[in-house]
Amino acid sequence: IMDGNGRWARKRGLPKIAGHRAGVKAAEGVIKAAKEAGVRMLTLYTFSTENWKRPEEEVAALFKMLEGYIDKEEPKLHKNNIRFMAIGRIDELPASLKEKIRRVSASTRGHSSLTVSLALNYGGRQEIVDAARHAALEVKAGRLRPDQIDEAVFSGYLYTKGLPDPDLLIRTSGELRISNFLLWQLSYSEIYVTKKFWPEFKKEDLLKALDDYRNRERRFGG
Ligand code: IPE
Ligand code: IPE
Ligand code: MG
Repeated sequence: IMDGNGRWARKRGLPKIAGHRAGVKAAEGVIKAAKEAGVRMLTLYTFSTENWKRPEEEVAALFKMLEGYIDKEEPKLHKNNIRFMAIGRIDELPASLKEKIRRVSASTRGHSSLTVSLALNYGGRQEIVDAARHAALEVKAGRLRPDQIDEAVFSGYLYTKGLPDPDLLIRTSGELRISNFLLWQLSYSEIYVTKKFWPEFKKEDLLKALDDYRNRERRFGG
């Protein structure tokens, strides 16, 4: 959960947008560091379904920045064998951003070192609702029986279909909440919170979080 761009900017007397710009840079660094550390799957909470409540200028600037970012990152994704994808209600995003996401997701589909997933217009509750609706339609169409719906089948209707649940959730800027991120998938994830603002989150910080994770004892209720 890449949080704290606004506070990072405020602390420096900069406009909030400068914080988001620095946040994009931090994301680039973390993707590189994650790959080097052997992480296979990285999901970046980029824009929540609740973030539409923000000023229109901020939202527009964020989307524009993201488009620039995807354009800039695309060659690097190919060079580094990184697969790109996005989860969320992608259909509701501006057409040009949607098109870039579609293009880069398709062109990097075969890449296998690291998968980077942007949670964009993403909400955990919305994801569960979308999955329930999809499953209900399948039942209505006679392709699914209600008694067939178990955890595995239900997971198959989520945006993250086929992807592993996160082992570790990292949130920056010290907030102790999930903010509607991956509600289903985080059920047994380890949680790591750092006070650092997202733009300050560097390779060393990721390695520190991974180190911390290595010392956790995961019991899964057992
Ligand atoms: C995270 O930084 C980026 C997004 C949610 C898009 P914020 O903009 O939430 O930064 P703070 O929480 O106000 O510091
Ligand atoms: C969570 O951060 C969403 C993203 C990082 C994209 P927010 O800043 O939106 O969360 P709250 O409002 O502090 O819970
Ligand atoms: Mg925030």
